[in-house]
Amino acid sequence: MIPFNTIHTADCLDFMPQLPAASVHLIVADPPYFRVQLQQAWDNQWPDETEYLDWSLRWLREAMRLLVPGGLLYVFGQVGKREHVWLHLQSRACAEFAFHDLIIWDRAVGYNERRDSFTPAYEMILALRKDGAPPRFDKDAVREPYEAKTQALYLRDKRYKDPQARRAHLEKGKYATNVWRIASLKGASKEKLGHPTQKPLELIERLLLSSSRAGDLVFDPFCGSGTTLFAAQKYGRAYIGVEINAEFATLARRRLETYSNVLRCSK
Ligand SMILES: C[S@@+](CC[C@H](N)C(=O)[O-])C[C@H]1O[C@@H](n2cnc3c(N)ncnc32)[C@H](O)[C@@H]1O
Repeated sequence: MIPFNTIHTADCLDFMPQLPAASVHLIVADPPYFRVQLQQAWDNQWPDETEYLDWSLRWLREAMRLLVPGGLLYVFGQVGKREHVWLHLQSRACAEFAFHDLIIWDRAVGYNERRDSFTPAYEMILALRKDGAPPRFDKDAVREPYEAKTQALYLRDKRYKDPQARRAHLEKGKYATNVWRIASLKGASKEKLGHPTQKPLELIERLLLSSSRAGDLVFDPFCGSGTTLFAAQKYGRAYIGVEINAEFATLARRRLETYSNVLRCSK
């Protein structure tokens, strides 16, 4: 049995068969995009789209095997000049597995200059569901605050008979939509650790808090700098991460160790 709270330097396709079926509550996967990061060997491993798509389906099948019934698998897809490959991937994944949601992540700043079309500024996050139980999803865990202006307006509205109940409702905040505006990490960002495609913690936290509970096991097959695992540790979930590149795996391990040390010191 693979111990919890560990990060493994391995190819996720070799690693995943070691985990038992229906043992993971949530998977956050941010896989290679296919020839978007042109300087990174890990994004240029496939001779053509067909091989990339076949490989994608292989790891997706293995990942879905690991999920408990009702568990969710989030898959990032990249904006950029090859996004049609991502559309094919979504289509093939949804033909085989239960579609749950499609989140639009508005990165706030455009990704790349294109001279012949609008500048791409969003990524999609596809959510697939393991059937057999109600989805492990808690909409209340990720409510967003109402703006003060909106709160004041609702409280003045005479149609609401019970102002106390109305205030309590407003204080809970509103349900989050599936369009998220969260700035992508810039080179100078304090959060940035040296991985070229590190995801903002705020974004991953939203996936984690809505789709897992304390004590759950969270798995990331392409953990990079360890953002998913960091969020899991922060919120009392167990984690297992895999990263093929030894330097990135070391980066992720250090990130998590530093956080545990901070927690120990603050106790
Ligand atoms: C898009 S990045 C993930 C970034 C991560 N979400 C973060 O916040 O830092 C994809 C990662 O997958 C790794 N990778 C590529 N092929 C892999 C494979 N077959 N098994 C495991 N990791 C792989 C790459 O080295 C890269 O670090």
